[in-house]
Amino acid sequence: MCGIVGYIGGDQAAPILLEGLEKLEYRGYDSAGVAVYDQGRVQIAKAKGRLQVLKEMIHGGDDIRGTLGIGHTRWATHGEPSDVNAHPQASVSGKFAVVHNGIIENYLSLKEYLMRKGVAFLSETDTEVVAQLLEYYYHGDILDAVVKVLSKVEGSYGLGIICEDDPDTLYAVRKDSPLVVGLGEGENFIASDVPAILKRTREICRLRDNEIAVIRRCGVTVYNTEKEVIPKTPEHISWDISAAEKGGYEHFMAKEIMEQPKAVRDTISPRIRGGRVVLDQITLTPEQIRAFQRIFIVACGSAYHVGVVAKYILEDLTRVPVEVDVASEFRYRRPIIDEKVLVLVISQSGETADTLAALREAKRCGARVLSIVNVVGSSIANESDDVLYTWAGPEIAVATTKAYSTQLAVVYLLAIYLADALGRLTPEQYADYLRELEALPEKIEKILENKKDIQYYASQNFNAKDIFFIGRNLDYAMSMEGSLKLKEISYIHSDAYAAGELKHGTISLVENGTLVVALATQDRLFDKMMSNVKEVKARGAQVLGVAVEDNRKIEGQVDFVFYIPRACDIMLPSLAVIPLQLFAYYVASMKGCDIDKPRNLAKSVTVE
Ligand code: G6P
Repeated sequence: MCGIVGYIGGDQAAPILLEGLEKLEYRGYDSAGVAVYDQGRVQIAKAKGRLQVLKEMIHGGDDIRGTLGIGHTRWATHGEPSDVNAHPQASVSGKFAVVHNGIIENYLSLKEYLMRKGVAFLSETDTEVVAQLLEYYYHGDILDAVVKVLSKVEGSYGLGIICEDDPDTLYAVRKDSPLVVGLGEGENFIASDVPAILKRTREICRLRDNEIAVIRRCGVTVYNTEKEVIPKTPEHISWDISAAEKGGYEHFMAKEIMEQPKAVRDTISPRIRGGRVVLDQITLTPEQIRAFQRIFIVACGSAYHVGVVAKYILEDLTRVPVEVDVASEFRYRRPIIDEKVLVLVISQSGETADTLAALREAKRCGARVLSIVNVVGSSIANESDDVLYTWAGPEIAVATTKAYSTQLAVVYLLAIYLADALGRLTPEQYADYLRELEALPEKIEKILENKKDIQYYASQNFNAKDIFFIGRNLDYAMSMEGSLKLKEISYIHSDAYAAGELKHGTISLVENGTLVVALATQDRLFDKMMSNVKEVKARGAQVLGVAVEDNRKIEGQVDFVFYIPRACDIMLPSLAVIPLQLFAYYVASMKGCDIDKPRNLAKSVTVE
């Protein structure tokens, strides 16, 4: 996720902006830039790579003189990491400079509109559209132009804006992307995260959606889109900087778990337009889709577990046979693939060595490769025929949560897209799936609101020696992820089993007090699951059940139940995974483990 900082005051802006951006580096970024009002012009300096590159380029800020400015660290979404795509983005004459966090969902149609009017674009970013629109609608009143632009853009945004016609004002706007105004003495700030400005002020105002802050040296006025003044009450920040980096959470993993509704929404909503799944980024034609005889999925770790869910979903919706394999196995097993095979590669980092090698092997055999990747411009993204990005933002905790959830979200979009191209969905089914998909972020939010129940259960069980996860079909796929999450960060031995397979060996490990997490979200398999629950309970197991809220038949059969909201069967994994992540997190936290950096593990495994 990108970072924003802005300054207006009596000191030189550029060094303050650079210092603020430094405090946002922990969030991950691929380029950085600043814009400063300097003697009648807005001067922009930006560069791909580390902040250090930018710093050296402008000699720590000495090269750009001025007391009003905005800065940004970019995590690429639209357009690869590059100098041109870095922010600030400017309007055609250079009058306006803009920094932006979030995604402008309708940027393509706005860009086309402006191009028809003769506006030339330099970058591939959605943000440039905002800068260009500001100039297009500017007729002497900047606030009017901002209001007009807000009425045109759809999506999520935190925006910092400066204009060369007004050296005394910094503008800030937000919708679905955090932005705070920092209040100082004769100086004021904006920031996407408090750490960026904490060294200079602890008094802040949080902007709400559709609020426009007009920030001058001596004061701040906040307006709504009707240009009515909104009274704001400042808030005092008492956290220290390390807590602030984590948004007040104790660990990045907790923060990232809580970010999932937004991450899933950011990944889904720009791709549903006019009641259709629109995958602009992929070039596959319906004829090519119809020609695929099989789909292979390759990935590692949690991304592999997304692949296991995807197998069930893709086969169910498309009726095309799907094989799923861990990349390190796939690459050495002489897989039988050719140009009639679609290979789906899933990776958060886009750099996992085994996954990249599997991709190359697939391409060598002539297969078409479509990847689902979080890091724009990464090796896997670059070498794939098509890429669908998950817009999860950077993930810092080693144990993935929001990347997993957004990968799953892309799998749903893709499954609907492919099934539709194959003529497998009636218009009613298609509309139902889209409705279900769009409802997911809110349902995830609802689960997170009840996290205390899981915290309580974890507090009763964090001393467990072995924990088994069982489920059938999609619930089995979820069991695998629940078990991996737990062992990664809590170091408790854990395994996942297909519930029907228990009696073929695993059940011999169950004894008095063994903890078993039983996933029972799938209606058609519920009774079968309850038989398996009885089998383990008869051997003394303690059972935590995960079930859908309108199915109370599980009560009395397990020792503790965590309910998730109802959704169509194929989308329940997106909901079931949340309590499993929370359970792993709370158990590890109660054991005092190093949650964000578990022993022996790395976030991105770039060696074989
Ligand atoms: C590491 C991480 C896992 C991740 C796996 C694959 O093992 O700890 O969380 O699932 O790599 O990473 P990728 O970046 O390819 O998704």
